[in-house]
Amino acid sequence: MERAPVMAAEVSRETRNVLPVLDRVPRAHHHSHLVSDAPSDLVSRGQAIFQRLRAEPQVPVEPPENQSEAEASIAEEAAPAEDVVAQPDPEPDPQPEPQPVEAVAEPEPAGEPDPARFIRPLPRVLAVTNQKGGVGKTTTAVNLGAAVADLGYRVLVVDLDPQGNATTGLGLNTRDLQSSMYDVILHDASIDDCIEATSVRNLFVAPASLDLAGAEIELVPAFSRELKLRRALDEVSADYDYVFIDCPPSLGLLTVNSLAAATEVIVPIQCEYYALEGLGQLLRNVNLVQKNLNQSLELSAIVLVMYDARTKLSDQVVQEVKAHFGDKVCRTIVPRTVRLSEAPSYGQPITAFDPSSRGAIAYRELAREVTGGTPQRAG
Ligand SMILES: Nc1ncnc2c1ncn2[C@@H]1O[C@H](COP(=O)(O)OP(=O)(O)OP(=O)(O)O)[C@@H](O)[C@H]1O
Ligand SMILES: [Mg+2]
Repeated sequence: MERAPVMAAEVSRETRNVLPVLDRVPRAHHHSHLVSDAPSDLVSRGQAIFQRLRAEPQVPVEPPENQSEAEASIAEEAAPAEDVVAQPDPEPDPQPEPQPVEAVAEPEPAGEPDPARFIRPLPRVLAVTNQKGGVGKTTTAVNLGAAVADLGYRVLVVDLDPQGNATTGLGLNTRDLQSSMYDVILHDASIDDCIEATSVRNLFVAPASLDLAGAEIELVPAFSRELKLRRALDEVSADYDYVFIDCPPSLGLLTVNSLAAATEVIVPIQCEYYALEGLGQLLRNVNLVQKNLNQSLELSAIVLVMYDARTKLSDQVVQEVKAHFGDKVCRTIVPRTVRLSEAPSYGQPITAFDPSSRGAIAYRELAREVTGGTPQRAG
């Protein structure tokens, strides 16, 4: 990639350290399955599970809307179904889908993890990231954010994805915005000027607009281009207990900005084929940002999402992720449920859209787990 010439004097020390890194990081493709230089054994371990699973009889997986052709074709290849006993759906669902088993907060088989292990001093800035597309980043940023706000914390969701899904999912129209994260990142506008209240008490959003897509390129010659978000958040971090940053599905400059601004990284992992692919690369990037830009950055939590109790595959992915990441894995597992995918089109988090649904229960449980459960500023 050709970079626009940058005056040497303009380049901060941090920027110089990260430039070679960015050049080496292959641009992640949406739903890419080909990771050319995946460094860790995670990928091969992941592939091994999937090979094993394909050899075993499998319940067919209902392909998610956003599943790529490659994934879909593998799902089709799966061996014929076993009998699945579908139990009645516990949630009043206008469009019922078979959801046989409660997947929320599964008990650990042995050795309860320390319930206080996710507690950190406030304010906390959590980058919700995974360069794989469609894995539940936005769903987690919005619904965990809302559930944390319901506990009484002041929460800001920063939408750093040009797709603006967190923005629309929280009820804002990306076309009506006076200003957005684009102005903050590219024109040093005050983030306070773009922050909007949502219909949920204590929950605020710093919206994204489509022009943020240009930021990846427009930022290239900018001074301290990796630290734009950190500087912006410094202005307002005292006003919030929790900031959740919804990252785009790439390892580009916007994601680097969110890693540089965050105190923690939270990674949603889909209980699906190829879930572990690309994780090695993500972890390597977290380490690089830690070394060069943000020493206090920590990978704090892994959240397993879109768990489908009908498939052995989901369980295998859960076991594999737990084996690898140990007690970084949240006990709360978010089930695949249609209500979670419907809520964004109503501009509401699941906790408001359908508070008694399994998705709402799971995200409330996750909020208690990640915060340590203590209600704040209530009343
Ligand atoms: N637990 C779930 N059950 C059912 N559907 C879900 C669940 N979580 C997310 N989805 C749906 O899956 C799709 C992808 O989720 P989401 O947008 O949160 O992923 P993402 O990682 O933010 O995607 P992108 O990489 O494009 O930003 C969306 O249609 C969403 O509604
Ligand atoms: Mg998203």
